[in-house]
Amino acid sequence: MIIARTIGELQKHVAEALSKKMQIGFVPTMGALHKGHIALIERCVKENEFSVCSVFVNPAQFNNREDLKNYPRTEEADLKKLDLAKCNLVFIPTVNEMYPDKKLLEMDFGELERMMEGRFRPGHFKGVATVVYKLFSMVKPHRAYFGEKDFQQLMVIRQLVKQMNMPVEIIPCPTVREDDGVAMSSRNVRLTSDERKAAPVIYQSLLRALKDFKGGNETSEIRKAVKAMVEDEKLFTLEYFELARVDASEGSIALLDKNDSTENVRAFIAVNASAVRLIDNAAL
Ligand code: PAJ
Repeated sequence: MIIARTIGELQKHVAEALSKKMQIGFVPTMGALHKGHIALIERCVKENEFSVCSVFVNPAQFNNREDLKNYPRTEEADLKKLDLAKCNLVFIPTVNEMYPDKKLLEMDFGELERMMEGRFRPGHFKGVATVVYKLFSMVKPHRAYFGEKDFQQLMVIRQLVKQMNMPVEIIPCPTVREDDGVAMSSRNVRLTSDERKAAPVIYQSLLRALKDFKGGNETSEIRKAVKAMVEDEKLFTLEYFELARVDASEGSIALLDKNDSTENVRAFIAVNASAVRLIDNAAL
């Protein structure tokens, strides 16, 4: 596996692959790789001749200094996992390599970047879109793989690619979960052992909400029930819970305020534990 730490090295290998008419697949990550990430890499390796993974903790998407400082960094273990998964190249740039200049351009995704994650993490999706746009320009992938775990992010990326006419196919991949239903996340290691034991309630509350929605319950009642279920654990507080209609291929999310058809409905949740916030979502 090639390890590239500069844009120059990365682009040299990308040019070589393209000159051999290879299809390039790309998985952007922030490292601290777990089975959710590896599922994306494995799919990428299967579907492309040259697979690139980036490992970069992107400061532009953190609106909380502590979260950025405490984000797990496990380069050596990441490299082993990527090598085992037969990734061809890993790009590990420094912050200076990615952001040498003052930022001049800023993207705006309207309501999509202001609801849910965007409401509680202002500027987060601008930072995600900026780094993904830069990475796509460098890696020139034919296909790029994103997890449904971060569903709103996936919709932002769809919008980004559409608006900028980027020739990359976005491939959504299902959320990988632990046996008890907890969505795998690099941040799970920062849960206390009691919080980790209680964490399955997050996904359970989503499933219960979807069932109640299908059963015709009012959205306001469902929200109350989710809040009670999550906060009954005492270790968690609910940050938001939303039901929304999504158009996954268009990249749009519209919050539901009253019950109507159950088509393309997804439930979204964010929960605060003592040192970390966790998000999850599920479809009907
Ligand atoms: P990160 O949180 O490292 O996630 C990298 C990719 O792995 C994302 O597409 C994410 O949705 C996916 N992923 C994470 N946990 C998953 C799980 N349990 N199942 C399936 N897929 C999962 O998302 C980011 O990094 C960053 O915002 C990034 C896109 C790299 C831009 O900096």
